[in-house]
Amino acid sequence: MKRLTVRAASRSYPIMVGRGVLDELGAAVRKLRGAGRVVVLSDANVAPLYLGRARAGLEQAGLDVSEVVLPAGEREKSLARAEELYGVLYDRGLRRSDTLVALGGGVIGDLGGFVAATFQRGIGFVQAPTTLLAQVDASVGGKVAVDFRAGKNYVGTFYQPNLVVADLATLDTLPERELRSGAAEAAKHGLLAGGPVLRRAQQLARAPLVAGAVTQELVAGSIRYKAGVVERDEQESGLRAVLNLGHTIGHAIEAATGFRRLSHGEAVALGLRAALRLSRELARLPESDEAAGHALLDELGLPSRLDGVRAEEVRALIHRDKKARQDGVRYVLLRRLGFPVLGVRVPPELELEVVEWLRTR
Ligand SMILES: NC(=O)c1ccc[n+]([C@@H]2O[C@H](COP(=O)([O-])OP(=O)(O)OC[C@H]3O[C@@H](n4cnc5c(N)ncnc54)[C@H](O)[C@@H]3O)[C@@H](O)[C@H]2O)c1
Ligand SMILES: [Zn+2]
Repeated sequence: MKRLTVRAASRSYPIMVGRGVLDELGAAVRKLRGAGRVVVLSDANVAPLYLGRARAGLEQAGLDVSEVVLPAGEREKSLARAEELYGVLYDRGLRRSDTLVALGGGVIGDLGGFVAATFQRGIGFVQAPTTLLAQVDASVGGKVAVDFRAGKNYVGTFYQPNLVVADLATLDTLPERELRSGAAEAAKHGLLAGGPVLRRAQQLARAPLVAGAVTQELVAGSIRYKAGVVERDEQESGLRAVLNLGHTIGHAIEAATGFRRLSHGEAVALGLRAALRLSRELARLPESDEAAGHALLDELGLPSRLDGVRAEEVRALIHRDKKARQDGVRYVLLRRLGFPVLGVRVPPELELEVVEWLRTR
């Protein structure tokens, strides 16, 4: 097991990463939060697999445990669902000293975190991520949100958890496509960080993508990189924006394909390819670095071509993004693998050209 500490401005907290660490959830929650109530939030896919084990440990630690199980899927990240959860917490008499545990993927983590952040202005919050995406990305850094109308993560806040318990053994039951989606975020961290974080992503890419190939070092390294960024800039006043690499175009592609045809990771992979290409044109990324970036995504089995949407539509969606500013969209690009550049303006014709390139390669 690897133990990390995130020292964010608002709160420091431990992260436990390893196979089987879910069995230590109860003792860890008890140690950090003391005696009290715990509500475990999970979804209908995850609960039958892991809720029993989470509950058993929490009960053994002497905590008063109850649960809420929601249907699986992004649609649950809504204000209506959040309100329903406030009702559950209210009825069960939760206080600020009590704790909500989010056991599941990024949907459960984002929704659970949003509810924990806002109920009584903040109760205890523990992340027990069960997807690769949530383990390497969503469970760390404190962005919590629900979707609103067409806006993904449109209503939310920053709320760091008190603890993250990332059990790699839970990935054994994750569908392959979800594993691949998470691998795209690990690849993003690799391209940003370079060095060992990149090498571990490349190692993962070389073998067939199965849960057993996901090492503690890969997940912990990816988390460590993201945590380092969050420690320096918790609320995205500057540096944290590097984590948007590939997401400006990736989000637009996700929206253009109706949030359905492509997984988040698949859309991000296309966004990363566009960012690599733009980096060569605008940030002097060496050709060999661009090629190494594409090779990593190829080997992970992530898509290389965007089908079935018009480039103009993607471009329009890029400019509707909530991070777009009055004077346009700023991109994160790379001047070398491991060396991001923030705030690059991309001329509109080049935006169109790069999306067209994705469509026709
Ligand atoms: N807060 C952040 O910083 C951040 C970062 C990235 C993504 N996100 C959010 O995360 C969400 C996506 O997360 P996700 O990809 O984990 O999606 P998800 O939570 O929908 O999980 C994907 C699917 O896998 C199932 N599942 C989860 N764990 C499983 C397991 N161990 N075995 C079998 N099935 C399992 C789920 O039921 C679901 O059907 C999006 O809403 C996105 O906005 C947040
Ligand atoms: Zn992402």
